[in-house]
Amino acid sequence: MAVLERVQQQYEVLPYPHRDPERELDQLRQPMVCELHRVNSLLWAGRRRFDATFSVLDAGCGTGDNTMFLGEQLRGTGARIVSLDFSAASLAIARRRAEVRGIEGVTFVQAAIEDAPSLGLGEFDFVVCSGVLHHLASPEAGLRALHSMLKPSGGLAMMVYATYGREPVYLMQSLMRRLAPAHLGPERRLAILRQTLASLPAENRTRRGLMEHEGFRGEIIQSDAGAYDLLLHTQDRSYTVPELHDWTHDAGMRVLEWSVPRAYEPATYLARLDVPVEAGAPDAVAELMHGGMTKHECFLERDDAPARERLAADDRAAVPAWCSWGFSEQVKQVLGNAGNEFRCTFGPERDVVVQADALARHFMGAIDGARTVGEILDAAGARWPALKAASITRRWVDFAEAFRAVAALAFLARA
Ligand SMILES: C[S@@+](CC[C@H](N)C(=O)[O-])C[C@H]1O[C@@H](n2cnc3c(N)ncnc32)[C@H](O)[C@@H]1O
Repeated sequence: MAVLERVQQQYEVLPYPHRDPERELDQLRQPMVCELHRVNSLLWAGRRRFDATFSVLDAGCGTGDNTMFLGEQLRGTGARIVSLDFSAASLAIARRRAEVRGIEGVTFVQAAIEDAPSLGLGEFDFVVCSGVLHHLASPEAGLRALHSMLKPSGGLAMMVYATYGREPVYLMQSLMRRLAPAHLGPERRLAILRQTLASLPAENRTRRGLMEHEGFRGEIIQSDAGAYDLLLHTQDRSYTVPELHDWTHDAGMRVLEWSVPRAYEPATYLARLDVPVEAGAPDAVAELMHGGMTKHECFLERDDAPARERLAADDRAAVPAWCSWGFSEQVKQVLGNAGNEFRCTFGPERDVVVQADALARHFMGAIDGARTVGEILDAAGARWPALKAASITRRWVDFAEAFRAVAALAFLARA
């Protein structure tokens, strides 16, 4: 059986991720690469209006996590959302979730990514393709197909597996190829996998590597779809950072930014490194210093993309905004805490700790997606007249960059 058919069959039997549409309103998941303030800031310096001219493609949408978050953020704007997947079962779940949420105007398309450019779907401002390309027979052809549907000024958010952190996954997949070959069918293969995991001694290195990792453990325990996707997949490849650069380069694209920029900087792991890091390779060095990345998430742009404006943290006309909906609530909570430090957790690899003096409290409380940097700094100057304007600005830049480095804070041009 061809790769495409085999993979499609898996996702018809086990749509991923496992979601119950009737419990849709319990929770809104907010995948970080779909945080539109951040996307807007990164691609268009916050100047892009989300209206009927804006278009998004969720390629390999699965059961619809990205589509739901995009749909909520674009509610009432008239923006065009196309969600495409070759699994009818996954699309049915995604469609029902959108119905339960009352999200209208999503076009669901059942097709292979490889065929998508010939369907007349038009070009898109933003394409998200998360956890998909590494399952294609040719990730190269898949990325080229997405490139052809992306406007030159647009951006593509992509997640693919990372090699080093997935070692236990690949060891278990090798074992499963021997104990539970694909011809046995999903039910029997899952039974063999579960039996193997339960029977291997606790000190077995592969089992420990899986069960001691929160993400892997969650996939294995929470659903058959998760366990199958992780350990019984028949088409699964991963990338190191240099391989990812080569691959995207061959498809006419380049990395614009990693989803959590700080995670790809050597200084995050070794504050004082007295040897020069080879030019162009700091992210590859950071990957090795981390040692256990399980996925790479990044924003790509086309090679022929126009030069992009990046608003500086001390640009007085810029408007700082928290990247995701949940963050302002979290910040309110943190502001209520006593103590000398603000500790914020915006997600994996996204912790920020900053000194919690009166000035930092002022900065934090003033960010509302409407006030400009100038207004925030001027208000601080009026409140603490003894402080020099330059030192207030310096503190602000340090403060803001700490949050920008974990993609918690975005800078937008004032509308
Ligand atoms: C691991 S799931 C990811 C789902 C979703 N993007 C997410 O992040 O939750 C992979 C999805 O890609 C779809 N897929 C895999 N290969 C595909 C292809 N060649 N064309 C279209 N969809 C594909 C599968 O059907 C499945 O729904």
